[in-house]
Amino acid sequence: MKGRVFSGARPTGRQHIGNYLGAIQNYVKLQEEHECIYCIVDIHALISMEDVTQMQGNIREMALDWLAAGLDPQRSILFVQSHVPQVMELHTLLSMVTPLGWLLRVPTFKEKARMQPDNVNYGLVGYPVLQTADIVLYKADTVPVGEDQLSHLELAREIVRRFNNLFGPVFPEPQTKLTTYPLVLGLDGMSKMSKSLNNHIELAATPEETERRIMSAFTDPARRYRSDPGHPDVCNIYTLHSFYNPDQRDLIAEQCRSAAIGCVDCKKLLAKGINRALEPFRERRAAITIDYVEEVLADGAGRAGVIAKETLREVKGKMCLL
Ligand code: TRP
Ligand code: SF4
Repeated sequence: MKGRVFSGARPTGRQHIGNYLGAIQNYVKLQEEHECIYCIVDIHALISMEDVTQMQGNIREMALDWLAAGLDPQRSILFVQSHVPQVMELHTLLSMVTPLGWLLRVPTFKEKARMQPDNVNYGLVGYPVLQTADIVLYKADTVPVGEDQLSHLELAREIVRRFNNLFGPVFPEPQTKLTTYPLVLGLDGMSKMSKSLNNHIELAATPEETERRIMSAFTDPARRYRSDPGHPDVCNIYTLHSFYNPDQRDLIAEQCRSAAIGCVDCKKLLAKGINRALEPFRERRAAITIDYVEEVLADGAGRAGVIAKETLREVKGKMCLL
């Protein structure tokens, strides 16, 4: 039997090429062999309250990108976390079998607490319990995530084991499927590509904007003058070429080392490669209406809700709540 995949992502609005190379691409591929459930986790997003007013816009933009990138609502379930409220009930029930010590040890909790010392809220502590509820509500056995989520998945398995020990075998232990991808750095050439650092290229950007942003990117600082030889291996433009111009990669490296190509031309070439690769995506995206997005999300919530109700009934039965 093919496994059931679940993954979630916070609604960050328009997705960038780092999101695509790191996660979305993999989500699309997993649909070929698995039953996949992909969730926009709006409740999780509330741990830091800055941008609640953008919530609905961010959800729709993200869903649009997912659809245009190839997530297929016929084969997979795409939905918004809060549209299946059973997850909050399960979160509460799971919280009863989760020792506080486990949660306080989670590295992401400690980091968040350091980052927002004035808002170390209860939800922040319970974040991985809610994440566990996401996964096990659908009895998913496979969870594709990046390395930063390993500790959450470890905790999810511990919660599952404890629940199953106490109340009987209900949940499969969710396995991490590490998405192996080279870290995609942003236009600053230093930090991971991210919207909050504004070092990203949106999938939905226009070709002009894509080129403009690439032209502003950092390159090998050794190339102060056009005649200075460069080191492609320390330049993120070169790394991006390996995704978007793989055939010309070796040539570019050689021309950079011998100063046969300047950074301006090298970047123009990259912009062309990215724009060529994203053209079909951008066309599909432009053709998707917001009404359609809403329809997909409503249908997804309906299908997810059927599974959720069944699981919750089973859980409540085991916990003598029925
Ligand atoms: N915590 C994940 C992140 O920050 C998002 C998430 C929420 C998730 N629920 C999930 C990921 C369930 C995988 C499975 O990226
Ligand atoms: Fe980077 Fe290209 Fe400039 Fe070399 S030529 S430093 S690879 S942008």
